[in-house]
Amino acid sequence: TTAGQNHTAARGLWSSRLAFILAATGSAVGLGNVWKFPYITGENGGGAFVLVYLACIAIIGIPIMMAEVYIGRAGRHNPIASMRLVAERNGCSSGWRVSAVIGVIAAFVILSFYSVIGGWAASYIGHSAMGDFTGQDAEVVGSIFGNLLASPEKLLLWHSVFMLLVVIVVAQGLKSGLERAVNILMPALFVLLLMAVGYATTTGHFGEAASFLFSPNFSALTMDGVLIALGHAFFTLSLGMAIMMAYGSYLGNDVSIGRTAVVVSLMDTMVALLAGLAIFPVVFANGLEAGAGPGLIFQTLPLAFGQMPLGALFGTLFFVLLVFAAWTSAISLLEPVVEWVEEKVLIGRGGSTLLVGLACWLLGIASILSLNVWSDVTPLAMFERFEGKTIFDLLDYFTANVMLPLSGLLTAIFVGWFVAKESLAKDVSLSPVMFSVWTNLLRYVTPFAVLVVFIYNLMS
Ligand code: PHE
Ligand code: NA
Repeated sequence: TTAGQNHTAARGLWSSRLAFILAATGSAVGLGNVWKFPYITGENGGGAFVLVYLACIAIIGIPIMMAEVYIGRAGRHNPIASMRLVAERNGCSSGWRVSAVIGVIAAFVILSFYSVIGGWAASYIGHSAMGDFTGQDAEVVGSIFGNLLASPEKLLLWHSVFMLLVVIVVAQGLKSGLERAVNILMPALFVLLLMAVGYATTTGHFGEAASFLFSPNFSALTMDGVLIALGHAFFTLSLGMAIMMAYGSYLGNDVSIGRTAVVVSLMDTMVALLAGLAIFPVVFANGLEAGAGPGLIFQTLPLAFGQMPLGALFGTLFFVLLVFAAWTSAISLLEPVVEWVEEKVLIGRGGSTLLVGLACWLLGIASILSLNVWSDVTPLAMFERFEGKTIFDLLDYFTANVMLPLSGLLTAIFVGWFVAKESLAKDVSLSPVMFSVWTNLLRYVTPFAVLVVFIYNLMS
């Protein structure tokens, strides 16, 4: 319809398929690749875990990403409205939009604490550059991290800086904001990552790291490991947060959704593996523990950089890389919420971005205080499983373990079972065989796998 065309023209489209790929990859590549993937791989024994993770990306991640992009492009509105439109068009209840509602709320909540962690990374650029880690022992390096977490003022400063960076980009809209940012940040990120891998090859422990990552030892793999791999496949591809719907809503009609989703997923996977190849040689070269957990990046690694030739320089570059990765992800978390407010409240792009950014910044303060002043505040302590969990922990827990799987599950079921096959086939442009593989994965495999993780998480 002409009204539809006018609406699409007013919202704008990505300038090219590449622009979408860079933006979606920018969303996908984040702390999950550089911080989380290496440490969960370390904790779960290496190669066998990596294999399971790759399988999860292929049979769960890619199908859901395609479903989300499909809904965004078919709806051409904010994620919630798009989901409603596509549902109504297929004679379904507009109630299906709840999957996007969950996604948008999750994006908002996740951004509030993602920005706090992005702030840690930003503050580490300064620490590395000033040589604060140079020649220091584990105690000193640990206390730098401890002091950061113990100081609400420092955390607030860096959280504010990071959130401001995100708001500035999103406020400028699709072309001069998002596209311009990813055009600069993504190539820079790849260059930095390759430099980090190059540096890792000089440590003399590159082979050890490669075999740790790529030679599967199935005896080290547990059921827990399998489920962690599955959950991480979701998180790392930015699924279940309405992000791919928001980004898909700006995608040109001539672009193949299938091919594009595969490219984005491969890039994300490649970055995770390269991050592993950059980090583990440094870990092994310094006799550090590969399974050191979440502290791997903020404690273990700085310690290593502090001991190595040119460590201050490469440490600085590494944290710049981390901030770039987190920045493009945070942009993608803000986008779906801003799209929604913009179409709903009609106060324009700038006003909507400021409003959402401010609200998110405020919520982030709760996470900041959870690390220090409110570290004893555990609102759900009356339930045994939430004992000792701070507000920060709870926000993380409910988004990652409840909201994302739920949103992804509903989206998979909706697209797999309720969208008319003809329009779906025309839109995703897959070969008949791949189309049937995709819809069958969405119908049978994805919901089952997500449910298993979901139930397992709730019971463990
Ligand atoms: N996909 C990102 C990562 O791997 C995490 C993320 C989640 C980013 C949600 C944006 C939104 O770090
Ligand atoms: Na990722």
